[in-house]
Amino acid sequence: MSLPPLDRSGAAPGPIGVFDSGYGGLTVLRQLVSRLPEYDFLYLGDNARAPYGSRSFPVVYEYTAEAVRALFGMGCHLVILACNTASAKALRTIQQKDLPRWDPDRRVLGVIRPTVEEIGRHTRSGHIGILGTPGTVLSESYVLEIRKLYPEVITTQEACPLWVPLVENLEYGNEGADYFIQKNVRNLLRRDPLIDTLLLGCTHYPLLLESIRKFVPSDVAIISQDRIVSESLTDYLRRHPEMDDRIRKAGFRRFLTTETEELFQERATLFFGSAVQADHLPLLHPA
Ligand code: DGL
Repeated sequence: MSLPPLDRSGAAPGPIGVFDSGYGGLTVLRQLVSRLPEYDFLYLGDNARAPYGSRSFPVVYEYTAEAVRALFGMGCHLVILACNTASAKALRTIQQKDLPRWDPDRRVLGVIRPTVEEIGRHTRSGHIGILGTPGTVLSESYVLEIRKLYPEVITTQEACPLWVPLVENLEYGNEGADYFIQKNVRNLLRRDPLIDTLLLGCTHYPLLLESIRKFVPSDVAIISQDRIVSESLTDYLRRHPEMDDRIRKAGFRRFLTTETEELFQERATLFFGSAVQADHLPLLHPA
């Protein structure tokens, strides 16, 4: 695999890179920006190759590694994979094999670990439900991480293959979308009626919250990741002042997409909550 070059300009402060397969990471970025308004952020959505959820391990790894390198090449010292599928299928290899070779001082963080810490603390019944993409569910990342941190908790997962395409195509909030949402939510709750904590294990799903809520009993908590990730990043920066010093703080945000700027701008507002100006970034591998 040929990768984009690294920016070797040393420790000059740079933005925090935020990566997602498409628009979903913007729900996370929105919270990050509101919690850390003075920090610079560089968002990259691989919209041209989204969704990642149904792609194989090696392909998700390749695409994610390429995106991380591109963000490093643009001066980021810290990259957040604001995508469960990329966190599940690529993070470990990038952290353990790639970073020591590429540059041991840079960091890549995912969304699964901080999410698990929070949902494990939240459940009272000890039964957690995970809604995610087929990639995230098949990787068993949540099940394994929960077992590691909370061995007594029972985890049940449901793959929702159509949810990301529904969101990416703005086909939600209607009867057709609700049919699939109800089907997946019912499947999950039927398999474990003791679930009291339901995780939206995909950064696209907060946009479906209203529909999901219709099919979930009111005593079941629905947890989405945007707030969790922003709290955990704030905590990380507090505990790692050496990294915090390498992040530029001029309140600057830049958005990159592998799709056309026009398409990205048209749809991104919905996820980010305000209008965005984007630039096109071509990545190497064809979709
Ligand atoms: N937002 C990504 C996630 O959290 C969506 C995955 C996809 O592209 O299918 O998993």
